[in-house]
Amino acid sequence: MAIGALTWNLSLYLSELVRLRKQPWWWQLKRGLKREFRDLDPNKMVYRMRGAYHVDSLAFGETSPLSVLKILETLQLPPGSTLCDLGSGRGVPCLVAAAQGYKTIGLEYFAVYTERSQRIAAEMNVDATFISGNFMNRPLPPADAYLVSATAFPEELRAQLKQKLDEQAKIVVAQDWILGPPWEHERMQKLPVSWGTAQFCYHHRKG
Ligand SMILES: C[S@@+](CC[C@H](N)C(=O)[O-])C[C@H]1O[C@@H](n2cnc3c(N)ncnc32)[C@H](O)[C@@H]1O
Repeated sequence: MAIGALTWNLSLYLSELVRLRKQPWWWQLKRGLKREFRDLDPNKMVYRMRGAYHVDSLAFGETSPLSVLKILETLQLPPGSTLCDLGSGRGVPCLVAAAQGYKTIGLEYFAVYTERSQRIAAEMNVDATFISGNFMNRPLPPADAYLVSATAFPEELRAQLKQKLDEQAKIVVAQDWILGPPWEHERMQKLPVSWGTAQFCYHHRKG
C-alpha cells in the first residue's frame, strides 16, 4: 500500500478509535472484518477479473463507519426504517446502520463479499441481509432509503440505475452523483472514505 494510503487509513482508524471505542458493536465490526476478509484483497480480485483498464463500477472502496453515522444523523430516518446499500462491498454501511437499529439490505455483485458480510452480521446479532447479484439485472430490494457508492460508476450504468431508482426509490444518498430530475437535490456533504473524501449527495424524489 502506498504511504499516503497507509497514513490516511491509519488516521481514519484513529478517529474511529477515539470516537467509537466505547461501542461494543464497533469492536465486533472491526474484528469481524479482519477475520473474514483477511485473505481477500478486493482491489486485486477486481484487477484479476477485469484487467487494469476495465475496473469500472467494480472498483472497491469503503465508506468509513464515522461517515455512515453522519449520513444516518443527516437522514433522520424513523426508527425501524429499511436502508439498502446498492453495491455493498464488505458491508460496512449496512453493518454500521444495523448496529444503530435500522433494518439493512446490502446488494453486492460478488458473493464472496456477501457470504462473509452475512457472517459478521450474525455475529454482531444485527438485522442486516446481504444478497449477491447485479443490481442492473434484478428488481431493487424495497427500502425507505438507498445508498449508492457511485463514484466509479460509468455514465451508462448511472443512467440505467437512475431509471430503476426513479421508479422505485424515494430517498437516495449517492456518492459523487447528482441524479437530476425528478430528484430534488437537497444537500451535499463531504465525508471521509477509504480513498480520501467523497461528496455525498442527498436526494428526495419530487411528488
Ligand atoms: C466503492 S464500493 C462501495 C462499498 C460500500 N457501499 C461502501 O460504501 O463501503 C462499490 C461496490 O459496488 C459493487 N458493484 C458495482 N457494480 C455493481 C452491480 N452492478 N451490482 C452489484 N454490485 C455492484 C462493487 O463490487 C463494489 O463492491
